[in-house]
Amino acid sequence: MEQQTDTNAAIWKSDTTVATWAAQAAERERNHGAQWRLMAQLLPFSQHESVTFLDLGAGTGAASRAILERHPRSTAILADFSPEMMGAGEAELQAFAGRYRYVEFDLLAGGWPAALPVAVDAVVTSLSVHHLPDERKQSLFAEIFQRLRPGGWYLNYDPVRTDDPVVTATWTRLTDEDDPEAARKRLHRTAHEQARYENHVRFISPLAPQLDWLRSAGFQGVELWWKRLDYVIFGGYRARAL
Ligand SMILES: C[S@@+](CC[C@H](N)C(=O)[O-])C[C@H]1O[C@@H](n2cnc3c(N)ncnc32)[C@H](O)[C@@H]1O
Repeated sequence: MEQQTDTNAAIWKSDTTVATWAAQAAERERNHGAQWRLMAQLLPFSQHESVTFLDLGAGTGAASRAILERHPRSTAILADFSPEMMGAGEAELQAFAGRYRYVEFDLLAGGWPAALPVAVDAVVTSLSVHHLPDERKQSLFAEIFQRLRPGGWYLNYDPVRTDDPVVTATWTRLTDEDDPEAARKRLHRTAHEQARYENHVRFISPLAPQLDWLRSAGFQGVELWWKRLDYVIFGGYRARAL
């Protein structure tokens, strides 16, 4: 576990990763932009509501930007453990100056920093929870529930795994159809790309237990809001007191 933690931190805190990340901005927007906008749409805030949301493992803030754009009175708190990713995010969030701040937070270590508010209107995670082992995913979902105000929402956009090889092969076949370069890229990874790939896949979990963990944490309305192949948006809300 200690060594795996170091691998994840080393990758996300490396200049090479951040440089590659910047170079792939257009590709990410093409592949994930619609999902970030759907997350923003799903959050049931009115145009006039002043709301605060947390983006955990926020990176350069792609999900936050979609939410800030759609909900003009929202404020974002973006948490990540990589000063390098947060530094790159500052540049990308300039249009929202005054409506966001970054907080350093290692999701694996737990122990929420004092700079994070104790009650927020929503929490989102985008492409970050799959970096955590299952026990930590489960405890994180419970901690997120505790931080939500009654009526608050949690949404997670992430890849999922299946144990069925036929399903996996079908996901791969269709992914390759979407991106004719995907198969070639898979076969010709640099050492850095291979390390990032292995770090990416090692803790990806199936969908069903994750929905169960949300229910066990106390979430209502646990729902799969969107799915395409191995990527999903799921979440739930904290019921208002009767
Ligand atoms: C694939 S990127 C996704 C970034 C962003 N949420 C997005 O959708 O573009 C994964 C992010 O999770 C962060 N991350 C990974 N492990 C983490 C941990 N243990 N604690 C906090 N952040 C972590 C990385 O630094 C990186 O910014």
